Amino acid sequence: MKASLKKSKTDDIDVSTWLYGRRLPSPVMSASGTSGHGAELAGYFDLSAIGAVVVKSLSHFVHEGNPAPRVGVLPTGMINSVGLPGPGVRRWIDEYLPDLTRTGANVVVSVWGRTKADYVKAVEQLAPVSSQLMAVEINVSCPNTEKGGEMFGHDSKETAAIVKAVSQTCDLPIGVKLSPNTDRYVEVAGAALDAGAVALIASNTYLGQAHKRDSNQPMLGTSSGGGVSGQGILPLSLRIVRELNKAFPGCDIVGVGGVHSARDALAYLFEGASAVQVGTATFVDPRILYRISEDVKWLVKKQGAQSLKELLAKKSMPPSF
Ligand code: FUM
Repeated sequence: MKASLKKSKTDDIDVSTWLYGRRLPSPVMSASGTSGHGAELAGYFDLSAIGAVVVKSLSHFVHEGNPAPRVGVLPTGMINSVGLPGPGVRRWIDEYLPDLTRTGANVVVSVWGRTKADYVKAVEQLAPVSSQLMAVEINVSCPNTEKGGEMFGHDSKETAAIVKAVSQTCDLPIGVKLSPNTDRYVEVAGAALDAGAVALIASNTYLGQAHKRDSNQPMLGTSSGGGVSGQGILPLSLRIVRELNKAFPGCDIVGVGGVHSARDALAYLFEGASAVQVGTATFVDPRILYRISEDVKWLVKKQGAQSLKELLAKKSMPPSF
């Protein structure tokens, strides 16, 4: 009721943005891995009203993932070591994509692999349905694989080799999900862009460890820890977006980390992001993507602007924000 009231008042406000060469109706996207592999959120809001749905990372093989418990609640958000479970691209195409396509949402497929050849195989399998997809997001930064903190995303040469191989295999625009767990993210991002990526997704979760409250035992089934997300990481990821925007002005950057409100989303957009992804907040409120998207409209209107573009052209957050 509240959401539709706001919507009717902001129908004339344009919050569209450009990403992957497409005009998105909203800068608010889902973050990979936080709302399943398909149309799981479709019961809560119209998925075509947000910028895009980014599905949980898929590999060319079926993967079971890590032992439970896979997620734990922290005072500042959560920690996870889910371990990239998934049905594999082929089953995903048969069992998940049809429902997702029917929603009219822009669909971004995240892919992962243990080797460069795995990434190539995954995108080869996507070829028959590429017209239903907006882009491929290459996940080189999951902290929860067998290799733990060692990931492709910490090495500019390995990242570039994967991006290049994927770009030679598929026609879809490529985004790279960067790791925040290296001080070389600018170098890695530059290598990815040189190799053919057109968007930087900044960033994945932060390596961390958490213990259960009632014992000094690890919270997660993988006792080595996991990836920390949620409100506590917003300032960290915001800085990464700022640095990337300084290094690669004009490049499409997607801010990810701790977005719980339209103000958080606008902070990323004012730092140069073209869009934001919302993840952990979805576990608290499955409608949050829609709410944030509508609230961005509301804030644009409140500032006397007609569009997000007009508001961002002011270059800084108005004092009354
Ligand atoms: O454990 C996981 O599935 C997380 C993946 C990621 O952070 O990329």
